[in-house]
Amino acid sequence: MSSTLDFEITLSQQPTPHAERERILADPGWGQHFTDHMITIRYAAGRGWYDARLEPYGPISLDPATQVFHYAQEIFEGTKAYAQPDGSVVTFRPEANAARFNRSARRMAMPEIPEELFVRSLELLVGTDRDWVPRTEGYSLYLRPFMIATTRALGVQQPSQEYLFMVIASPSGLYYPRGVRPVTVWASQEYTRAAPGGTGEAKCGGNYAASFLAQAEALRNGCDQVVWLDATEHRWVEEVGSMNLMFVYGSGPDARLLTPALTGTLLPGVTRDSLLKLAPDLGIPVEEGRIGIDQWQAACASGEITEVFGCGTAAIISPVGGVKGPGREWTIGDGEPGPVSMRLREELIGIQYGTRPDPYGWVH
Ligand code: COI
Repeated sequence: MSSTLDFEITLSQQPTPHAERERILADPGWGQHFTDHMITIRYAAGRGWYDARLEPYGPISLDPATQVFHYAQEIFEGTKAYAQPDGSVVTFRPEANAARFNRSARRMAMPEIPEELFVRSLELLVGTDRDWVPRTEGYSLYLRPFMIATTRALGVQQPSQEYLFMVIASPSGLYYPRGVRPVTVWASQEYTRAAPGGTGEAKCGGNYAASFLAQAEALRNGCDQVVWLDATEHRWVEEVGSMNLMFVYGSGPDARLLTPALTGTLLPGVTRDSLLKLAPDLGIPVEEGRIGIDQWQAACASGEITEVFGCGTAAIISPVGGVKGPGREWTIGDGEPGPVSMRLREELIGIQYGTRPDPYGWVH
């Protein structure tokens, strides 16, 4: 798909003052502050994408009967812009996010957006708000493209006929404020994230809405995150929190990775995919397969599994130190971040922040 849509550009007349922006960038937290501009593009059935704008960041006005409020026809993406040592700014695999966005769109009966237009939106916003890209190591400008159903109608006989695509940007520090300290995870038996035939592999808001109660259960049990098990047998490990999972077997030159295969109920993570390509080049073989919760516990007890980590755009790599579930609890390795997790993290971050070469052509 190609697009010739031009953006109408309206720059903010009241951009955040320099001193205020610097204060925010020094300690941005995560997802709490937003840059001076945003992208909006509209879609109507029969007309296609139109009215592309870059405009000052601010509230949007929608009729209370707008479909998205009622039936959650909504999808989103997450990607980041990183400051490079030479002062330039790059994004990481934006076309991979565009492709996933369109896969999510298909699942939610929403229109696809030309990949070129998606990427150009990110470029325009990052280019305009480039002074918002934090220079602090480990910080980045988180980009949140999303699309909502905007037809004003309560019927559910057909999907919305109109949509709004937007991109907003948020200067971000570490997703977990305590850094790469390992998280403890709760293996929920009560709640599942995704069922076969459902929306598990789409990045739609509803998946996250349904996760909050399980997350509260995890917190109540003294854990940081939920480990999601499959919906059919409550046995196969799928994801952790909002991240994909990787298991490290063995150590040193014998280390290898296993990650749950994309069965249709897992989100196909861009970080997951990047690690599947990166790890073998570092001499760490990877396998996509499946692992049961009992097997996980047994393999930690026998020392076969040495490290486990979650991976996603937001936290990059987040070590898992321990697991709890109804009537069980175990530690992974010594409960501390392991060398394989940390090495993969360093390598990936190195490519993103331009301190290591990028043989894959991932930076944009
Ligand atoms: C990610 O790990 O990148 C996520 O998807 C988290 C995001 C929903 C905040």
